Amino acid sequence: MKAVILVGGEGTRLRPLTYTTPKAMVPVLNRPYLAHLLAYLASYGVDEVALALGYLPDRVQAYFGAGEALGLRLIYSVEERALGTAGAARLAACRLGARSNDPLLVLNGDIFTDLPLDRVVNVHRAAGASVTIGLVPVADPSQYGVVKPDPDGRIRAFIEKPAPGTAPTNLINAGIYVLDPSVLDLVPPDRFYQFEQGLFPALLGAGAKVWGFSWSGYWIDIGTPEKYRRLNFDLLSGTVASPLVPRIENRQCYAGEDCVLDGAAWVGPVVLGNRCRVGGGATVGESVIWDEVRIGPEARVIRSIIGRGCRLGPGAVLEDAVIGDNVEVGAGVCLGPGTRLGPGEVIAGRPESI
Ligand code: GDD
Ligand code: MG
Repeated sequence: MKAVILVGGEGTRLRPLTYTTPKAMVPVLNRPYLAHLLAYLASYGVDEVALALGYLPDRVQAYFGAGEALGLRLIYSVEERALGTAGAARLAACRLGARSNDPLLVLNGDIFTDLPLDRVVNVHRAAGASVTIGLVPVADPSQYGVVKPDPDGRIRAFIEKPAPGTAPTNLINAGIYVLDPSVLDLVPPDRFYQFEQGLFPALLGAGAKVWGFSWSGYWIDIGTPEKYRRLNFDLLSGTVASPLVPRIENRQCYAGEDCVLDGAAWVGPVVLGNRCRVGGGATVGESVIWDEVRIGPEARVIRSIIGRGCRLGPGAVLEDAVIGDNVEVGAGVCLGPGTRLGPGEVIAGRPESI
């Protein structure tokens, strides 16, 4: 089976991390997020995938190559300018050679779920639908595409990001579609066009069969720092498993290779990349720390994300912060909630003697 993954967005809500690392490549338990999504597809027998890329495509191509390591055939559809979700899928499906009547999977490239793909495809075929959308319930649907399916699963309206309090249900578009590739002929070529505000409303307006498959298992969109951390911790606690890593039974700290962690205290789940060092007496919790980060003795890192190669001096404090690659924070500097530091920024600390 063939699939398209949409991975062209700039990941604005994950800045400053995404200034240097595309959202698809942010590490989740020390493997690029996209490797988990590809392994999920492969576990359902998907064998050909087109990655629809726009922003920082080289990093993705250099890492995944032709897909051999995951047992898939990967092709790359790189947009010169953003074509929107439907425009990107149209181009990628064309490059993949998707054929009419052969259902095509399309996925947003920032979701993690255990939704059973085989069951969505079965529903799609049984209904003879043009499009079948994976649906999940969430507490606040206002940040998503919302639908209200009929009891048999048929969808008659699609509302993208309704104003808070106005959504007709809490069932949202999970960013997983099964399409009859012929619907992509309705997408205008070479210009920005979205599924959410364009193709879905157009199909519904024309009376096409659009179906929903509802799933109440695990689902998350990793597009914000909070949810990106949450996915790492849910994998660490065993709340959900990735086909890429053996199920983990409730571990507090997951460290990559060659880390030196002398007497640090973990006060909540922590994921550390490869070759990190954490000094004695440091306190770290609810944080995701990328490769080659050094955290000085007596430092404190809480609810934060630290990009690759950062240095934190002794006694530095980071709370609810997101800092890009290669940032240096001096000894004793306290950075409070909401701090964002761009790649390479240097925040000098108190002199050691004070
Ligand atoms: N190739 C390409 N080109 N990819 C794109 C483009 C583009 O022009 N624009 C967005 N994408 C990719 C993003 O990289 C992401 O993986 C996916 O399409 C969705 O874009 P987001 O920017 O993350 O959208 P969202 O999270 O606000 O909303 C979407 O996802 C929700 C579920 O997480 C919508 O599809 C909602 O309806 C849905 O509920
Ligand atoms: Mg998203």
